[in-house]
Amino acid sequence: MMVKVASTGRTSERAYLTGLGASSVVDRDDLVVAPERTLGPERWAGVVDCVGGSTLAAVLRTLRYGAAVAASGLTGGNGLETTVYPFIVRNASLIGVDTVQTPIAERRAVWQRLASAWPPDLIDGMVHDELTLDQLRPGLELILAGGVRGRMLVRPGG
Ligand SMILES: NC(=O)c1ccc[n+]([C@@H]2O[C@H](COP(=O)([O-])OP(=O)(O)OC[C@H]3O[C@@H](n4cnc5c(N)ncnc54)[C@H](OP(=O)(O)O)[C@@H]3O)[C@@H](O)[C@H]2O)c1
Repeated sequence: MMVKVASTGRTSERAYLTGLGASSVVDRDDLVVAPERTLGPERWAGVVDCVGGSTLAAVLRTLRYGAAVAASGLTGGNGLETTVYPFIVRNASLIGVDTVQTPIAERRAVWQRLASAWPPDLIDGMVHDELTLDQLRPGLELILAGGVRGRMLVRPGG
C-alpha cells in the first residue's frame, strides 16, 4: 500500500492536507534525519519537491534504493548541497520538471488526468482568492507573508 506523506511548515494545515489525500503530514524540519551521516535512513519511494534547497538535499539522503525525486521549484533556495552517494549507492534519480516549454498536447493530457482524478469541488477549494491586476501587490505580499493556502487566481481584464 502506498502511503502519501505531505510536508509543510504549517502543521496547522494538517486537516487540509489529509483532505487532499495525504495519509500523514510531517513538519518540514522533520525531513532532516541524521544530518551528520552522508546517507540517512531509507524513507521515501518517490518524492515530488517544489522546495529545493535543504529540503531537496534532505530527501535525496533519505531515498530508498531505486527511488526518484521529481524537482520543480526553489522556494527554499536554489542551491543544492549533496553528494553522489544517493545516485551511485542507492541507484536514486533526480528528475527535473519544467512546465514552461511543455508542449500544449502534453499539458492537456495532464490537465485531463488531474480533472478526472480530483473532484471539481476539491480543486475549487484550492482557490484562496481572485484578484484583479490592481490587487496584485497586496496579494503577492500576502503570499510572501505565508497568508495564503492554495492558489490566487488573477483576472487580467478585471
Ligand atoms: N519547474 C517549473 O516549471 C515550475 C513551474 C511553476 C512553479 N515553479 C517553481 O516551483 C516553486 C513552488 O511554486 P508553487 O507555485 O508550487 O508555490 P507554493 O504553492 O507557494 O508552494 C511552495 C511551498 O514551499 C513551502 N515553503 C515556503 N517557504 C519555504 C522555506 N523557506 N523552506 C521550505 N519550504 C518552504 C511552502 O509550504 P508550506 O506553506 O506548506 O510550509 C509552500 O507551500 C517555486 O519556486 C516556483 O518558482 C516551477
